[in-house]
Amino acid sequence: MKRIEFHDRERETKEITDILDSEPSLITFVYGPINSGKTALINHLIDHLPECYAPFYINLRGRFITDYEDFQSILFEIDEGGAVDNISEYARSALKDLKIVSGIPIPVNLFQQIFEKKDKSKDMFRYIERFFTEISEKRMPVLIIDELQVIGDMEIDGHLIYKLFNFFVRLTKELHLAHVFVVTSDSLFIERVYSEAMLSERCKYLLADDFDYETTMAFLDHHGFNMHEKEIAWHYVGGKPVSLVRLINEKRSEKKIEDVAGSMLKLRTGEIMTRLKIVKELGSEITMGNKCCDVHHEILVSALKMFATRDEVSTNEIDEVSKGYLVKENILFADPLSNTIKPQSMLNLLAIREAMENV
Ligand SMILES: Nc1ncnc2c1ncn2[C@@H]1O[C@H](COP(=O)(O)OP(=O)(O)O)[C@@H](O)[C@H]1O
Ligand SMILES: [Mg+2]
Repeated sequence: MKRIEFHDRERETKEITDILDSEPSLITFVYGPINSGKTALINHLIDHLPECYAPFYINLRGRFITDYEDFQSILFEIDEGGAVDNISEYARSALKDLKIVSGIPIPVNLFQQIFEKKDKSKDMFRYIERFFTEISEKRMPVLIIDELQVIGDMEIDGHLIYKLFNFFVRLTKELHLAHVFVVTSDSLFIERVYSEAMLSERCKYLLADDFDYETTMAFLDHHGFNMHEKEIAWHYVGGKPVSLVRLINEKRSEKKIEDVAGSMLKLRTGEIMTRLKIVKELGSEITMGNKCCDVHHEILVSALKMFATRDEVSTNEIDEVSKGYLVKENILFADPLSNTIKPQSMLNLLAIREAMENV
């Protein structure tokens, strides 16, 4: 199958390029609904970074992390090339053939040393800081952690996430040593970050939402959609890149766009109705902070009913439990910066509306 090439997102690309052009001073959180193209955007940028940057991209998605060992083995790329004592020499040699790496290079003996230490995080961060300091003479390190919320709740010698945030603040605001990007689809995580005192004034936020209308039309034009097909696509899936790619592929295999889009909507409506039915019959619970809360069917329904006539609502119109549940189920997306809640996508909005006609 022919691959669908990356479609440029000018606004977001410019924002990130501007950040990279200036001295690192803030942590950048790239957030947005699921499948809005955050990972694709970051990867495209990495592929086109000028030589003066050294990107390190770490994706925690789908990784099973339960302890430091797991986290460390994802954060680092172990170099089996023999024992090294001198980090500056090692950094210099690593820089010579540094391609796009999916971890911070570390000689195997130093990795093991860190591992034997009692306070692993301290040594781990100290190594990264040394390594970055050495390479920064030639190239500016760019550290990108995708789907960081995976370790959001993990407790290893205290909260790992806070130690990481502290370290990121040190790399950016204090030392101006490296650019740090944190990418996440989890709006509850961004909400926590946003209200976190230790991060206030120390980070900035970049919303990578679904494509806007113009970008969607340009993308579909490029793939030979006619006016009617473009209208159908926009009506059903809006600017959700993953769904647009699906429609493009279906069109290539000569399927009718309205049939495909119609069945996508039917499927999503069914999924939402099933979730509601389960809550109605069996009940459900979610954990908020360290409190376990009951999810109520009728409150969920009244929250969803607000979308019958509106595309988005203000955060304080939906109770926290319903919001938490619907965000976790990837039905709604909450944006703490604009204080709004909206469906994860156009398809979700339409599916909610259909589901509400049948409850
Ligand atoms: N700018 C783009 N151009 C073309 N396809 C894209 C673009 N952004 C996303 N996609 C498609 O959408 C899919 C989901 O995007 P992804 O970056 O994984 O979303 P996210 O990381 O926001 O959850 C990708 O696998 C790709 O097929
Ligand atoms: Mg992603």
